[in-house]
Amino acid sequence: MNTVSIIGTGYVGLVTGTCLSEFGMNVTCMDVDERKIEKLKEGILPIYEPGLEQLYEKNYSSGRLKFSTDIKEAVDYSTIIFIAVGTPPMEDGSADLQYVLSAARSIAENMDGYKVIVNKSTVPVGTGKRVKSTIEKVLCRRKVNYKFDIVSNPEFLREGAAVRDFMHPDRIVIGTESEEAKNIMRNIYNVLYLIDTPFVFTNLETAELIKYASNAFLATKIGFINEIANLCDAIGANVNDVSRAMGMDGRIGKYFLHAGPGFGGSCFPKDTKALVNIGNEYDTEMSIVKSVVSSNENQKRFMIEKILCAMGDLRGKVIGVLGLAFKPETDDIREAPALSIINELIKQGARVKVYDPIAMDNARKYAFYEMKSIDAGYDFKSHVGDDVSLVYCSDEYQVAEDAHAIVIVTEWNQFRNMDLLKMKSLMRGNFFFDLRNVYERSKVEKCGFIYTGVGR
Ligand SMILES: NC(=O)c1ccc[n+]([C@@H]2O[C@H](COP(=O)([O-])OP(=O)(O)OC[C@H]3O[C@@H](n4cnc5c(N)ncnc54)[C@H](O)[C@@H]3O)[C@@H](O)[C@H]2O)c1
Repeated sequence: MNTVSIIGTGYVGLVTGTCLSEFGMNVTCMDVDERKIEKLKEGILPIYEPGLEQLYEKNYSSGRLKFSTDIKEAVDYSTIIFIAVGTPPMEDGSADLQYVLSAARSIAENMDGYKVIVNKSTVPVGTGKRVKSTIEKVLCRRKVNYKFDIVSNPEFLREGAAVRDFMHPDRIVIGTESEEAKNIMRNIYNVLYLIDTPFVFTNLETAELIKYASNAFLATKIGFINEIANLCDAIGANVNDVSRAMGMDGRIGKYFLHAGPGFGGSCFPKDTKALVNIGNEYDTEMSIVKSVVSSNENQKRFMIEKILCAMGDLRGKVIGVLGLAFKPETDDIREAPALSIINELIKQGARVKVYDPIAMDNARKYAFYEMKSIDAGYDFKSHVGDDVSLVYCSDEYQVAEDAHAIVIVTEWNQFRNMDLLKMKSLMRGNFFFDLRNVYERSKVEKCGFIYTGVGR
């Protein structure tokens, strides 16, 4: 019982596997991505997540944490198999289940006795049942009749605080129809049970919906405060004070009330769209969530309008963007607002200099690989006539050199206390767009900048 296998070794799978091994379990993390598994075997983490490296090193060297590309090895290894593969959005917004169902098929091809298959991926309501029938079909074809149970155990960790969240969750949700599986799951999370973590036991469909409802609600809070911020801009109010005062009301709560350039990341954008889709499938209008999806798109566009409104024509202008990750303390750039903002700035004729403390490699590899770019350190002025659109810099001060404007898109701590006089002296212009409201307007203006925040 103290062995676990994880299928899919991404942000969720790797954090889950590493933390469970820290809880004293023997864990095999399996992935189809050979390079990823090779790296992990060589001692290199494929993602950045605070606190993960230490736990990984400790448990990998002790032999409790193993990595493999062999599904048979993973299925043989344990009775409990977590599925933590991606569920990216399809063109119509619905979740693409091909990876979940393919993982289910390969588990079924290899199982040789009772298994508990735990779905940790975020999946539409009804997926647990689909996984069950997928496995049944394969077992039937194999002419074997092994017993198995399906559990939905959605994950609520936040990137950037994933280890902490996994170790100290607000709740554990377990959806299953099987008493045996329920007891097995309680044992898996016994360490958390002992520190009084609340458990919610429910059926498969409810557990699946809890995850979408939670993410959509948090996204709604962000969308709501962003709209209030836009209204604050129009009427001269201060959104920081509005959200602080709102948050003091225990019924509202202070979290997820920070105005900004719109939410991004691998979860909120896709999960809100998927929930709208689930509603469509069951003939239930998700009108609030639908509005959140469109208001978030508007918010990103509105950031460009702010820049255009202050600076006018962007052709020939150099704009420094600070932060590429969708939030601080992660290297994840999936759906990051910075990406659409940068693309639009370039479309408007600007050249963009960028820096992020951790996400530069991902941006090069996955976001801007088709764009003509150079590394700073080249004499940027000598490239003025070129069609170079993007310049990768090594810190915020290099970004400032020759820039007409600075735009803070991700609120890394490193950007919260910059030497503004130094920045200003390096720049050609004096526009300062603080899309995360991390600076006091008066402090920035004192240094000679024209300040624009979001809703204040
Ligand atoms: N990232 C988050 O913050 C977060 C938080 C909560 C829930 N989730 C959900 O968890 C799931 C995983 O998200 P993620 O961010 O870890 O994804 P990810 O893209 O980082 O990792 C998914 C991994 O699954 C692997 N994979 C795909 N098909 C496979 C197969 N058949 N067998 C083995 N491995 C396979 C991929 O190679 C990849 O390494 C998603 O459903 C997501 O919505 C994510």
